[in-house]
Amino acid sequence: MTALFTPFSLKDVTLRNRIAVPPMCQYSATDGLTNDWHQVHYPALARGGAGLVIVEATAVSPEGRITPGCLGLWNDQQAEGLARIAASIKAAGAVAGIQIAHAGRKASANKPWEGDDHIALDDPRSWQTIAPSAVAFGANLPQVPKAMTLDDIERVKADFVASAQRARDAGFQWLELHFAHGYLAQSFFNVDANQRDDAYGGDYAGRSRFMLETLAAVRKVWPENLPLTARFGVIEYDGRDEQTLAESIDVTRAMHAGGLDMLNVSVGFSTPNGKIPWGSPFLAPIAERVRREAGLPVASSWGIDAPQVANRVVADQQMDLVMIGRAFLANPHYAAQMAAELQVERPTWLLPAPYAHWLEKYHPG
Ligand SMILES: Cc1cc2nc3c(=O)[nH]c(=O)nc-3n(C[C@H](O)[C@H](O)[C@H](O)COP(=O)(O)O)c2cc1C
Repeated sequence: MTALFTPFSLKDVTLRNRIAVPPMCQYSATDGLTNDWHQVHYPALARGGAGLVIVEATAVSPEGRITPGCLGLWNDQQAEGLARIAASIKAAGAVAGIQIAHAGRKASANKPWEGDDHIALDDPRSWQTIAPSAVAFGANLPQVPKAMTLDDIERVKADFVASAQRARDAGFQWLELHFAHGYLAQSFFNVDANQRDDAYGGDYAGRSRFMLETLAAVRKVWPENLPLTARFGVIEYDGRDEQTLAESIDVTRAMHAGGLDMLNVSVGFSTPNGKIPWGSPFLAPIAERVRREAGLPVASSWGIDAPQVANRVVADQQMDLVMIGRAFLANPHYAAQMAAELQVERPTWLLPAPYAHWLEKYHPG
């Protein structure tokens, strides 16, 4: 059987194949609420045949949004809209996941197509960002964040827990904690962003405390029978890669012992100066190393947009799931197209009947 199209089980959840649509911000919400855009976008991705569709970075508090257009899960009205999305993803045969997030010092930004930079401080749409230390990211994101007090840390952990409870009650079956991409949790781990001299900074144990405590608190409310995962940047490409990777694998091991079921392996993006070796599939050997040394299932992404490559990284056991983003935006039926190209029998079976009956010519098996 084609490796990419074998089912994958984690806890009590089974995906129909190894293809996941990763979280992708739509920057299209108002006050963190879903609207017609999200209600159409998400089931469309699920109808194309992916095993798992993860809803975009959804903020645990207003200040945790990347932009004013980001989704939120800090109130029940937001949860109602997201419940409809979870139901529509499941109705289309995929597992419904959601990523919950706090953007830290990268918050209060303009949408990518409106500048991708910090909103000017004198603009009423901007807000005060928070981070482990008062250190700006730099480049397009120069706002200096407020260093978090211990009370702030407790509040944000509680916000993660409350959002996880709402995600659970809204019917999501897969939770991803956003610990990556230079956002709040990643900047606790990063030595340049975190200059604290209390229990949440300093050595590796201090810098991982925020992630481990947030995970432990969420674990208590997220059902034991459903996957609890995290996205984490295990490497920065900043010239200190071996040390960062070794520490990242250690913390992944600790998270696994603390109840993490899978890691979505990514890049840290803690610095604007990382020299990222873009090229497909550059993260596959890193994901494979995390999988082997930390001993847990992994997913990964970045530029895996050819069916043969996606199939190979699964067949070679470099990753358990392949996260495919932009190729799904370009073609929401990309899973069916990959099945056709890999000569999987009856690829249109991945599509809903009102499409499948007519599309055999376009996706010949
Ligand atoms: C429009 C867009 C929005 C994104 N938003 C998120 C997000 O909310 N959370 C996240 O972890 N990654 C986000 N990413 C990164 C994607 O999840 C994915 O890792 C990236 O697109 C690389 O995969 P690809 O080469 O298959 O597109 C986003 C990417 C895109 C293109």
